[in-house]
Amino acid sequence: MHLTILLFTVLLALGISPELLAAVTAETAGSGSDVQTPPATQLDGLLPLMIVMTSIVTAWCMNYAAPKTRAIGTALASVGCLAVAVWFFFFVTGSGILENPKPNQTPMDSAKPALLWVQGSAALAAGLLLLVTALRQGRSTRELTLGAANESQRYGRVSRIFHWTMAALFIVIVPMGVFASIIPEDAAFRRIYYTIHETLGVLVLVLAAGRILWNRRSRRPALDTALKPMERKMAHGAHVALYGLMLALPVTGFVMTTYVGAPTLFFAWELPPLWGPGNGLVWGLLHKYILPYILYIVWGSHILGALKHRYIDGHENAFRRMVS
Ligand code: HEM
Repeated sequence: MHLTILLFTVLLALGISPELLAAVTAETAGSGSDVQTPPATQLDGLLPLMIVMTSIVTAWCMNYAAPKTRAIGTALASVGCLAVAVWFFFFVTGSGILENPKPNQTPMDSAKPALLWVQGSAALAAGLLLLVTALRQGRSTRELTLGAANESQRYGRVSRIFHWTMAALFIVIVPMGVFASIIPEDAAFRRIYYTIHETLGVLVLVLAAGRILWNRRSRRPALDTALKPMERKMAHGAHVALYGLMLALPVTGFVMTTYVGAPTLFFAWELPPLWGPGNGLVWGLLHKYILPYILYIVWGSHILGALKHRYIDGHENAFRRMVS
């Protein structure tokens, strides 16, 4: 209850009216709107399956013993980021949807084209950085000796594969979600974006649960001793927040979709809603307006913090705790 009041106060302070708030959930979710999207085809299942398989293979190669295989893993991660960038710069910008999106549900929606530009550019920068890293790694001869379990100062293979698979999935889920939410309802390709977004989102929830269980079995390494007290607090806070978001984003997405009365699109299947339509306003606000912005801040700090630790503070081992 307190959370609801807090959310309403924040959003009203941002100039979002009650009428607009009411519209948020009414129009949300791919197949829940009046204009029905076409029925599922095999392609609907194939694309998310390819993305999931590529993410797992990438994460597995990135932490393989042989240096050449690790370089291939990093090259695959680079290709993944560049593919998101190519999708944005060629397809999204060429589609005309950024200029003529679905009518806004709240004033905050007018930020989405700019948000997609930032995400597309970030994917391009990450792809290029990973490409350079892959080329450098290709010259390395260092074998990676690593067990499945976590060690006191570095993560083991299982945690690393969880981490990099989920990182790859997030890079696809977020821009697909933002873009899906602005595609006009009569566009033929609208459904595939919801399918990819929701399928990968459900898998993130499964992976997050598996990761938490694994952490209980194999204790996570302590934070890097080279961190200053303030940096330790920030790193710890970012890790807690990221775990919270890994659970909260899929759960709120699923509940929001269910309250609209829409099925959850999972590969080529439509998982029926678990309960009847209702007022999912708070869930919609959380999934579409509050949690994504918290994610951008925490995710950005996590990546910038790791880069600072490695390149500005010069700690060689900063990345070796989780990769290579
Ligand atoms: C890690 C998991 C997830 C992340 C990071 C995530 C993130 C996002 C983001 C950033 C948006 C765009 C919000 C906006 O700008 O309006 C979005 C939209 C959406 N998400 Fe998710 N999501 C996740 C999982 C899910 C799941 C599991 C479902 C449903 C089962 C779901 C359903 C939706 C729907 C239907 C929209 C579009 C709403 C609209 O049309 O306005 N999401 N999500």
